Amino acid sequence: MDRIRIVGGAPLEGTIRIGGAKNAALTLMPVCLLTDRVVTLTNIPDLADIRTMGGLLEHLGVHVHLNGADSAEGRILELDASGLKETTAPYDLVRKMRASVLVLGPLLARHGQARVSLPGGCAIGTRPVDLHLKALEALGAVIELQEGYINARVDGRLKGAHVNFPKVTVGGTENTLMAATLAEGRTVIENAAREPEITDLATCLTAMGARIKGIGTGTLTVDGVDSLGGVTHSVVPDRIETGTYALAAAATRGRLTLTGTRLNLTEALVDHMRQAGVVVEDGTDGLLVDATRGDVRGVDVMTEPFPGFPTDMQAQWMALMSTASGASMITESIFENRFMHVPELSRMGADINIHGGSAIVRGKARLSGAQVMATDLRASVCLAIAGLAAEGETIINRVYHLDRGYERVEDKLAACGATIERLRA
Ligand code: EPZ
Repeated sequence: MDRIRIVGGAPLEGTIRIGGAKNAALTLMPVCLLTDRVVTLTNIPDLADIRTMGGLLEHLGVHVHLNGADSAEGRILELDASGLKETTAPYDLVRKMRASVLVLGPLLARHGQARVSLPGGCAIGTRPVDLHLKALEALGAVIELQEGYINARVDGRLKGAHVNFPKVTVGGTENTLMAATLAEGRTVIENAAREPEITDLATCLTAMGARIKGIGTGTLTVDGVDSLGGVTHSVVPDRIETGTYALAAAATRGRLTLTGTRLNLTEALVDHMRQAGVVVEDGTDGLLVDATRGDVRGVDVMTEPFPGFPTDMQAQWMALMSTASGASMITESIFENRFMHVPELSRMGADINIHGGSAIVRGKARLSGAQVMATDLRASVCLAIAGLAAEGETIINRVYHLDRGYERVEDKLAACGATIERLRA
């Protein structure tokens, strides 16, 4: 298994291009199952999770063509589901990536049936899909759970319905929204997730002919149509990659310009960074992050659905707070087990105590390099940030987690002065 070696202590200085959002691309790819026309997605990041979703779609009979060019605009992905031959997403493909469950709504809406392996728990929590299933049942699907599979079918078309999510769910909103575009009549989704990835999905569906109102709000109203057309759509910039590099700049007390992204995707994080004393500005060439003044103060954070502080930035925030002056309380309200990075940060000298869903972090002037273990995607990049800020050598084991969501992370950081290399297994 590959490892990453970092020798920390140098401020990051330079420019990093931010790619298309992994989590937007993962919901835009199954959109192709809703039409027999070609769906072309640009600004696609080159990531393991994208290849996994591509593999699943190919298994279903989708013609998948990924343009290999490494252009400034990311990759171009063409998806053609006109020759669909299969409606089963098998265990071996789903277990690699939970987002595979996003094929359920589109398959059901257009092909009247779907058999999708139930995703298991994962490192950050139990992560059930009950709310996806209840919403699809409200639209008329008959769903049975058998032998670890979700068996879903509908006679004729799905029917528009009122869906009120008791809890905000990104994936649940995405599955329901995709399914509702082809349902008969009107669907109202209340307490819908408002993440930029949902807005991107709704924008893409609208360009294909879907009728959606309330985009960007907590109530989505969808008037079903008989069919959807093809589309060319550019994936929204990755707000979590943006925030991750912004925090890497802050933790090393450096200065980075982040291009290909926008501040309004990540306002909650930027507000907290400014409170901590980091300069963040929307410049003409991109987002400028400047922590060269040196002092970063402890600031409390609680994760919340968008537009609140994202759970996907919690681990990276903790890496920054481990180097801040003063204490901060970090509360995780979305996932029940998302502090797996804490013992690893502690091995690097961080002073962190967990009390239920909150962690108290007492900042230190300097962390020290150590051997650490990545447990999930955001935890692994938090360890990279801590390693860049620490004195001495850090070796991160199990970096396949990192490759799921960060494109060429070591090249991007090395180009900004970091000493970082991949040690191939
Ligand atoms: C998406 O996961 C993201 N994944 C996650 O990013 C992100 O952390 C999460 O949203 C929250 O922002 C993708 O977009 C592929 P949820 P998702 O449904 O859709 C509970 C990363 O690092 N819930 O909004 O699975 C659930 O257990 C990843 O890139 C139910 O109880 O998240 C959680 O506590 C990790 N029943 C909460 O809701 C359900 O049926 C929010 O989960 C569905 C969810």
